[in-house]
Formats: sequence, C-alpha cells, structure tokens
Amino acid sequence: MKSFQGKVAVITGGASGIGLALAHKAAAEGMKVVLADINSEALEAAANAIRSSRVHTPGCEVITSLTDVANADAVHNLARLATESFGGVHLLCNNAGVGGGGKCWELDLDYWDWVLNINLRGVINGIREFTPHMIAQNEGHIVNTASIAGLMSAPDTGPYTVSKHAVVALSEILAGDLRRAGADNVGVSVLCPSFVNTNIYRSERNRPVSEELANNPERQAELDVIEEMAGSLFSTAMPSEAVADLVFEGMRSGRFYILTHPEGSREQVRKRMQTILDDGYPDVAGPEDFPLT
Ligand SMILES: NC(=O)c1ccc[n+]([C@@H]2O[C@H](COP(=O)([O-])OP(=O)(O)OC[C@H]3O[C@@H](n4cnc5c(N)ncnc54)[C@H](O)[C@@H]3O)[C@@H](O)[C@H]2O)c1
Repeated sequence: MKSFQGKVAVITGGASGIGLALAHKAAAEGMKVVLADINSEALEAAANAIRSSRVHTPGCEVITSLTDVANADAVHNLARLATESFGGVHLLCNNAGVGGGGKCWELDLDYWDWVLNINLRGVINGIREFTPHMIAQNEGHIVNTASIAGLMSAPDTGPYTVSKHAVVALSEILAGDLRRAGADNVGVSVLCPSFVNTNIYRSERNRPVSEELANNPERQAELDVIEEMAGSLFSTAMPSEAVADLVFEGMRSGRFYILTHPEGSREQVRKRMQTILDDGYPDVAGPEDFPLT
C-alpha cells in the first residue's frame, strides 16, 4: 500500500508504545483510525491525544474499541465496528503484545497461556477476521508485530520468544497464502523490533491473576525490582515514533521484514542460520544480546 490518505487503520494495543505511535502516524497520514486495547483508561487518553493533535490532518477520525485480542468474539466485534463506522479496513496492525520470560520448566501453564493467547492467538484472531474482507475489497495491508525475539532464541524468554517465532512464521505463511490465492493487492509485513522505549516491561502488571497472587508482597517486590532495572534500560531505547516511521516507509516500499536495528538483527539471524547449517548447538545469547544497532 502506498497511499494512506482517507483509508482506515485498525491498530491493536493502540493505547501505548508502538501501537500508539503507529496510530499517531496513521492519523498524520490522513487515515481514519480504530484504536483497540484492553486498557480502557489508556485507550481513551490515547484517542484524545490523537484527536487533539489532529490539526495537520483534516478528515482524520479516531474511534476506540475496548478489545481483548485473545478473545475471537471481541476481535469479530472490532472488525464489525470498524466496517460499520468507516465502511472498510485497509490497514490492520496486529500489534498488541505482552512480555513474558523465565525458565521454561518453571513457568506455570496459566502464564504460558496468557502470553501465547495475546501474542499469538491475538494475531491469528486478527488475520481470520480481517483478511477475507481485504481480499474482497482487493486492497489492504497487514502488519504483524513480532520482535527480534522471533528471529533468535534467547534463553529466559520462553513464552515470549515462542510466540514471536510463531508470529514471524505465521506472517511468512500469510504472505505466501495470499500470493497463491492471487490476492496480490493485500500486502503483509512483519515488524521485528529490538529494544523500543515503551511500557512493555510493565506488562505483568496487567496480567489477570488470583487475588492472592495480586496481593502477594513478594511478587510485588519482585516486579518492582524488574521494572526498575528494565525501566532504565528501556528509557534509552529507540523511540516508538521512529518505529512507526519505519513501518510506514516499509509499507510504501513493499518491505516484508521490518527491522528496527538492522545491523545487529541481521547478525543474529546469520548466527542462528549458520548454527543450523553447521549442525551446531544453540547459542546461549540472552536478551542482553538483543541488538542495539
Ligand atoms: N518495546 C520493545 O522493545 C518491543 C520489542 C519487540 C517487540 N515489541 C512488541 O511490540 C508490541 C507492542 O508493545 P509495546 O512495546 O508498545 O508495549 P506497551 O506495553 O507499551 O503496549 C502494548 C499495548 O498492548 C495492550 N494489550 C495488552 N494485552 C492486550 C490484549 N489482550 N488485548 C488488547 N490489547 C492488549 C496494552 O494495554 C498496551 O496498551 C508487542 O507485540 C511487543 O511484543 C516490543
């Protein structure tokens, strides 16, 4: 897709971070925007922030949808709201996601389900709802937010990395399926960021847990320590606005893989593929090896 003026964007996880930056960018391009998120307060604040910065983009409209992407019915309602409100959807950003790590064998199944249901099932739900509409309309673009974690396999990041590898694979398969179906006017990109300055490191705060766990002081103290450490790391990371610019540039030039830190990301991909070709054993590079360039 090369022209965005007057078209319609649906952005999940649009109340914060990369999703919010994508929404601002879409509005600045003159698009009508449907912002979807699970956090109602942040969602309304985000929509108001976009509306009040609308001076540059006459015609831009923003509506919100309180949506849990893990829930197929909720995503169905999101698609209905978007088409009933604006007549069609041209850009879908399957962006909502949460962080999640720990030793694979120690994490409980509820935790695995929480991460996989949002990060992977959420993307599946979006693809199932919106792709047929874009094919029928003979125009559209789907951007799935994966991660550099979808291109390498860092220890201690099990659920997150598994979900993101799956999103990369799903995006590649979607692109192939669309080509084979002759739907050449429906494009796909997979966004693979390394560190971006967002609230991702605070995801755990929004995890639905039992009252007992929510009020457990040890868990709170642990979260405080993690957030303090991660907060200082993320505060120096790439601004989310720069990522949104890369996504729109990428769509304009028909890029499939959108890397925010191309040099380091390509190096990690090369290392992984070389290990496979050499019949080697997986590297132990951890999240600290996520590229910074
Ligand atoms: N920040 C990074 O360094 C980084 C790197 C690689 C990939 N990503 C990916 O970018 C995407 C956006 O994350 P971010 O970094 O902007 O984080 P963020 O926490 O700032 O934003 C994520 C948004 O998703 C929403 N969300 C969470 N669960 C949801 C659900 N079930 N349904 C709908 N919305 C939900 C949150 O409320 C939040 O507004 C994620 O998929 C994340 O995995 C981020």
